[in-house]
Amino acid sequence: MKLLVLNGPNLNLLGKREPGVYGTATLDDILDKVKIRAEELDAHVTCVQSNDEGELVTKIGESEGTYDGIILNAAAYTHTSVALRDALSAIKNIPCVEVHLSNIYAREDFRQKSIIADVCIGQITGFGTMSYVLAVDALVNYLVERR
Ligand code: DQA
Repeated sequence: MKLLVLNGPNLNLLGKREPGVYGTATLDDILDKVKIRAEELDAHVTCVQSNDEGELVTKIGESEGTYDGIILNAAAYTHTSVALRDALSAIKNIPCVEVHLSNIYAREDFRQKSIIADVCIGQITGFGTMSYVLAVDALVNYLVERR
């Protein structure tokens, strides 16, 4: 089982970026935990981070035939990107789990709307690093059940 873990803008700055909101773990720290959990579940993860909306759209669009599922923290694009939403809609056979470190519903009004939520199979928000680990469990379980 092959999973793509896709991280959007500014997530490369985790560790030093607003630690009161996002914690002190770096993206590499988080991805190490993701890889450990994925291995336990016999899944293989490929991790990509980009600050570029177009690159994220391209990665999603190219995922068919390569990946079985996607874990996506679209970061700020969650709230703004019709292009990302359309890319997810275009690969309907590849389930995507939306993740956020912070609880987007407990933050500013503009963060409380995800325009990708309804084209994802589900959303995990507010558990810090655990959001990603839980997403691995949720996605692998979904893919196994679907077989
Ligand atoms: C985030 C929440 C977004 O609103 C924000 O723009 C981010 C990170 C999160 O993981 O909590 O960059 O996706």
